[in-house]
Amino acid sequence: MDIRDFQLERFFAAHEFEARFLLSPSDCESLSLEDLLALADSDSLKRWRQLRLGYTQSAGHPDLRAEIARLYPGASSDDVLVCAPEEGIFIAMHVLLQPGDRVVVMAPCYQSLAELPAMLGCAVDRWEVRTEGNRWTLDPDELVAALTPQTRLVIVNFPHNPTGYIPSSDLIARLVELTAARGIYIFSDEMYRFLEHCPGCRPDSLLGAHERVIALGGLSKAFGLPGLRVGWLATRDRRLLNRCAAFKDYTTICSAAPAEILAIMALRRKSEITAANRRIISVNLEACREFCRRHSSWLDWLEPDGGSTAFPRLRPPLEMDEFCDRLLQRRGVLAVSGRLFDWPGEHIRVGLGRRDLPEVLAVVAQELESSSSG
Ligand SMILES: Cc1ncc(COP(=O)(O)O)c(C=O)c1O
Repeated sequence: MDIRDFQLERFFAAHEFEARFLLSPSDCESLSLEDLLALADSDSLKRWRQLRLGYTQSAGHPDLRAEIARLYPGASSDDVLVCAPEEGIFIAMHVLLQPGDRVVVMAPCYQSLAELPAMLGCAVDRWEVRTEGNRWTLDPDELVAALTPQTRLVIVNFPHNPTGYIPSSDLIARLVELTAARGIYIFSDEMYRFLEHCPGCRPDSLLGAHERVIALGGLSKAFGLPGLRVGWLATRDRRLLNRCAAFKDYTTICSAAPAEILAIMALRRKSEITAANRRIISVNLEACREFCRRHSSWLDWLEPDGGSTAFPRLRPPLEMDEFCDRLLQRRGVLAVSGRLFDWPGEHIRVGLGRRDLPEVLAVVAQELESSSSG
C-alpha cells in the first residue's frame, strides 16, 4: 500500500524523546499511575486489584462504554465502540468510504483525517480556516461551494488541532443542516472536548445532531492519558457501528485490560482531571499572550477558543522552518512548524497543556533575542 508519511508523527518519532523542551505537544500534563490510583473510587480500585489479564470484550468493557455514553446526552452504551483514537479514524474511514467518493476535510488538520480518505481513493476538498483579526473562523459558504452530489463525508475537528478554533452555534447549525439535507455523514473529531477556554462555551457533541454523525473521543488530550491508548467511536447509526466493530477484528480486536479499568477510573473523575488541565491551559494562555505582546515584532498571537494548542504566526523576516531548526539545534526546543500540517504561511504550533510552558517560552525568548542582536 502506497502511503505518504504521517509528517507530524514521523517528526515526533524522531525527536520527541530526545529534545530537552517541547514547545508544541498537543496533550495535557500526563497523570502518573500513582496520581490516577489516588483519585480512584473504591469500586474501580477493587477491579484494578482483581483484574485478570485475559482478552477483553471486543466492543469495550460494558462499564467503560456506559461511562463513555454518559458524556453524550441521550446516548447509550450501544452507541459506543472502544478503540485507540487513531484506530478510530482508521476504522471509520475504511468503513465509510469507497474509491471515487468526495470528502470535505477541515484544513489544516491532523494528517490522518485527510490522508486516509486520499489513500482510499477519494477526492479530498479542503475547507480552510481563515483569520479575522486575531481569531480563527470558517466560512460556511465555502462549505456549500465544496459540497457535490458525490460528497459522502464532511470531516471536522472542534476544538481544532492546531488552531484551537471552536465555531459559533450558528455555524454548527449550518453544518448540521447542510449535511442532513444531503444525506452526508459527519466525522466529528472531538479529541479536545472538555478543554474549552471559557465557561459555558462548550458546544454539544455533534453526536446528537443527526443519524449520520460519527464522533471520535478519547482520553489522550483533556484527560492527559495518551499512554492508555483509549478512545472511542460513538454514533446513533447502529449499522455503521456494527461495521466498525467488525473492522476492528482486523486492527486490535480488543483493548488492553489494564487500560480499560484505568479509563473507567479516569472517566469517573472527569470533572477534577479536566478542570486541572483547563487551569494549566489558562495560566499558559496568559503566558503566551504576554510573550507575543513582548515579542510583537516577531509574532502575532491568534487566540484559540479551546483545546490544548494554539497556532500563532511568525512575522518576516523570521522563516518558520529555519527558526524551528535553530530552536532544536541551538536550544534543544522541539517546535512544530505549520508545514507539518501542510499549511502554508509561517505558523508554529504551541502546546498549552503542559506545566513547563513558561519555562520553554523563556528559552524561545533567548533565541528570539539573539536573532534581534544578530
Ligand atoms: C485531532 C486529533 N485526532 C486524533 C488524534 C489521535 O489521538 P491519539 O494520538 O491518542 O491516537 C490526535 C492526536 O494528536 C489529534 O490531534
